[in-house]
Amino acid sequence: MEREIHYSTKISDAFFRQVIDYVGAGVVITDPSLPDNPIIYTNKAFETVTGYTTKEIIGQNCRFLQGEKTSREEVAKVRKAIEEEQSIIVELLNYRKDGKPFWNELSMYPIFVPSEDKLYFVGVQKDVSDRKSEEIRADDYKQEASLLSTPFVPISEKICILPLVGNINSERWEEIYQRISAHVYDHDEEIFIMDLQGIKDMNDDVHSGILRLHKLLQVMGARLIVTGIEPNTAKASVKLADFRKKQISFYATVQQALEGIRASH
Ligand SMILES: Cc1cc2nc3c(=O)[nH]c(=O)nc-3n(C[C@H](O)[C@H](O)[C@H](O)COP(=O)(O)O)c2cc1C
Repeated sequence: MEREIHYSTKISDAFFRQVIDYVGAGVVITDPSLPDNPIIYTNKAFETVTGYTTKEIIGQNCRFLQGEKTSREEVAKVRKAIEEEQSIIVELLNYRKDGKPFWNELSMYPIFVPSEDKLYFVGVQKDVSDRKSEEIRADDYKQEASLLSTPFVPISEKICILPLVGNINSERWEEIYQRISAHVYDHDEEIFIMDLQGIKDMNDDVHSGILRLHKLLQVMGARLIVTGIEPNTAKASVKLADFRKKQISFYATVQQALEGIRASH
């Protein structure tokens, strides 16, 4: 026998309020027909997330949660969404009543209520500080790892060594070009020694990368020396013929390169 299910259409406002209070995220409703789009309702979780009581904030615009380090660009996106009556999800750095910052994943929706012929905005605030600080830590680590993989060793005012280690893909080359051009621009180095001893595979990427770097340094009035390749190999290798044509100097070791530079000055 089929069970009959009766849906009640008479769920009271009070019941809905209670349900919304149990939602595990802050909920606010604002009324854009009033001056400055103020808060007309907040749930219990909003008080927990922000530290403010409903009494303190009812009638205010939600921007009181923003502070010194809140991204103005992200706030502008919210402003635009409100103007265009669009929904949006943004991550904003907000501040609790005690001044402690937290990352707020704000989902904001325009909701039209036909029975009132009126538009409201609903905001759902989720504290995502834990996830955000993980992301920030991961980004810092990535940046540090990439700096470690392309270190610069200035050994005099005019000479800088760049020891390359591991595998170099096109992404790492891009980083090397950018860092070298910024470095030459700031330091006026005349000679760059790129040591390839730690390179696992002298593949096409490395080959074209060195040629491009040579060109870049030439334009900037600096010079490239490559070490870590035996001069005999450099002379015999068909692949390295391009380097010879461009008159890139080779040395087996950094030590020998430095001696070579000293002898020619
Ligand atoms: C329903 C709703 C919820 C909002 N919740 C937040 C919030 O939790 N944190 C915040 O920084 N801004 C929030 N805002 C955005 C601000 O109220 C305001 O719209 C924003 O700062 C852009 O306007 P302004 O440039 O005039 O300040 C919310 C806006 C609406 C409409």
